[in-house]
This record gives sequence, C-alpha cells and structure tokens, in this order.
Amino acid sequence: MNEVENPYLPKIAILDRVVDEIKDVRTFYWHFEDQNEQLKFKNFLPGQFAQISVFGIGEFPASLPPSPTEEETFFTIRTVGSCTDAFHKMKAGEKFAVRGPYGNGFKMDSYAGKNLIFVAGGIGLIPLRSCIIYALENRQKYERIQIFYGSRTPAELMYTNDLKKWGQSAGIECYLTVDRATDGWKGNVGVVGSLFKKPNVQMAIKNSIAFVCGPPVMFRFVIKDLLEMGFNEEDIVSTLERYMKCGIGKCGHCCIGSAYVCVDGPVFTYKQIKKLGEDI
Ligand SMILES: Cc1cc2nc3c(=O)[nH]c(=O)nc-3n(C[C@H](O)[C@H](O)[C@H](O)COP(=O)(O)OP(=O)(O)OC[C@H]3O[C@@H](n4cnc5c(N)ncnc54)[C@H](O)[C@@H]3O)c2cc1C
Ligand code: FES
Repeated sequence: MNEVENPYLPKIAILDRVVDEIKDVRTFYWHFEDQNEQLKFKNFLPGQFAQISVFGIGEFPASLPPSPTEEETFFTIRTVGSCTDAFHKMKAGEKFAVRGPYGNGFKMDSYAGKNLIFVAGGIGLIPLRSCIIYALENRQKYERIQIFYGSRTPAELMYTNDLKKWGQSAGIECYLTVDRATDGWKGNVGVVGSLFKKPNVQMAIKNSIAFVCGPPVMFRFVIKDLLEMGFNEEDIVSTLERYMKCGIGKCGHCCIGSAYVCVDGPVFTYKQIKKLGEDI
C-alpha cells in the first residue's frame, strides 16, 4: 500500500537571505531542505499561497510573489503580529517550515489573447508580482500589459528593482503614483485611479482582464472607476484575505457563506466577491 502523505505536515525550509523592502516589510529568500520538496513546490500557480510555520510561535498564510519560472523562492512579509514579528527576527541559515502551495491561483492561461491590466496599491503588489513576471515571461500570449501602482509615499513603493525594469521595458506600460510626494519625486501625485485618465495613458478596456489588489479603500474606488469605464464584473479579479488555519478546506475558518477562501479562492472575480456579499 502506498503511504498517504499527511497534508498538514510542513516541510523544513532554510532561510537564505533577507532584504528590506519598505518599512515593516521584508523579502525572505529561502529553499526547502529536501531538494525533492523544492521541485514539487515549484509547480505553483501565480496567486496561490503557502502556510509558513515559525517554530514555537505558529503558522500564517502568505502569498507567493515569485513566478513559478523564477529560480529563487521567496515570501514578502509585513510584520503585524506574533508570527510575522517572529518571522522578521529570523536570520539567514535559520530553519522554519512551509506547506502548500494552496488555493486556486489566477487562471493565467485562460487570459491568453487578452490585455492584462494590473492595478495595485501598497503591499497589494505582493500577490500580483507573480502574475506580472509570469505574463512577461510568456509575453507572446497576451496583448497589452499595463501596470498601475500606487503607494502613500515614494519610500513605500515595493519591489523597486522590478518597477525600474518594468518602467524601461518596451513590452509593458508601467505607471506609478504616490499619495504624497517627497523631495526628488517627479512622478504623478494622486490615488492610483487618478492615473487612468492621464493624457499619456490609454487604458485598454475592451478584451481586458483587470487584476486589482490593495487596501479596501483603494479597492472600492478602483472598482467603481473600472465599472464606469466599461469593465465587466467577471473581468475584474482580486484575492481575498481571511483568517486561515488548515488551508485545505477542512476547518472552516476561512469560510464566507458556502465559499472556502483557502480552496475556492483566494482569487475571485468581482462578480463572485459581490455575490459572497463581501464588503472589502
Ligand atoms: C491567502 C493569504 C495570503 C497572504 N499573503 C500575505 C503576504 O504575502 N504577505 C504578508 O505580509 N501577509 C500576507 N497575508 C496576511 C498574513 O497572513 C497575516 O498578516 C498574518 O497571518 C498575521 O499573523 P500574525 O501572527 O503575525 O498576526 P496576529 O497576531 O494573528 O494578528 C495581528 C493583526 O493582524 C490582523 N490579521 C491577522 N491575520 C489576518 C488576516 N488573514 N486577514 C486580516 N487581518 C489579519 C489581526 O486582526 C490583528 O489585528 C496573507 C493572508 C492570506 C489569507
Ligand atoms: S482555512 Fe481551513 S477551511 Fe479554509
């Protein structure tokens, strides 16, 4: 008889290096101790998540910001409480544990032939980074790729190396904005939706999928703008965050009505989010 794998069993991971991203947010590069686990894990889809265990403290869900095709595996984590604080204190060489990948992910292949519009606010770029890198690595599959990204201040823009590359790349249109400019900022000032109507921006509306991730207030305004511009509710996709325990559809911690965010999501269309009665 084949041995059945325990789905709750996390696998040992080793932290390689830590990079400060913005205030309270760090990117953690890591690998599985067992090379076979690394190979299995690398089949993840953009938009999926994993459960991270910090020994003696607890477990928490985190998105997978790398594209499956990138060599290095990493998480980008904001410190907000006991588990994330403990994770932020970890040093290169230390061990933690990971199980996953979990969730449905973005259906990147079904968006072939469409324009991809990414709209992110603050750390909302974490789950979208994977899709953006995946789309660029499969550039011929998609029509236009537009990124609209905003943060409160220039110092709070995430993944600045990627933003620089995207800003210089011919195959992608990348527009940045900040709520409050500081010395040296020459870009747009205003909320992310203010970019949509700039004279230098021609937003792709027909045959487009809009990926929207960010704080609730930004989400509400961006959705309103997109719907007014003619986007269909089913062509707007986002990720929902819920308290999670098992991550595999057993415990019910993440349920909204009949939907299990950990398995039916975390990616939902705006039409589904509305149907769930979710006020985000
Ligand atoms: C699918 C998914 C993907 C996620 N991806 C990331 C990621 O890539 N990077 C990242 O930094 N964070 C991510 N999060 C959020 C992260 O899981 C929480 O910040 C973490 O669980 C907090 O644990 P803690 O023990 O540090 O905080 P706690 O001590 O448990 O809580 C501290 C504060 O955070 C609030 N909080 C905790 N968990 C959540 C949650 N799930 N939703 C809303 N509020 C919460 C609590 O109400 C409390 O106010 C994700 C969450 C989900 C569900
Ligand atoms: S986290 Fe347990 S059912 Fe979703």
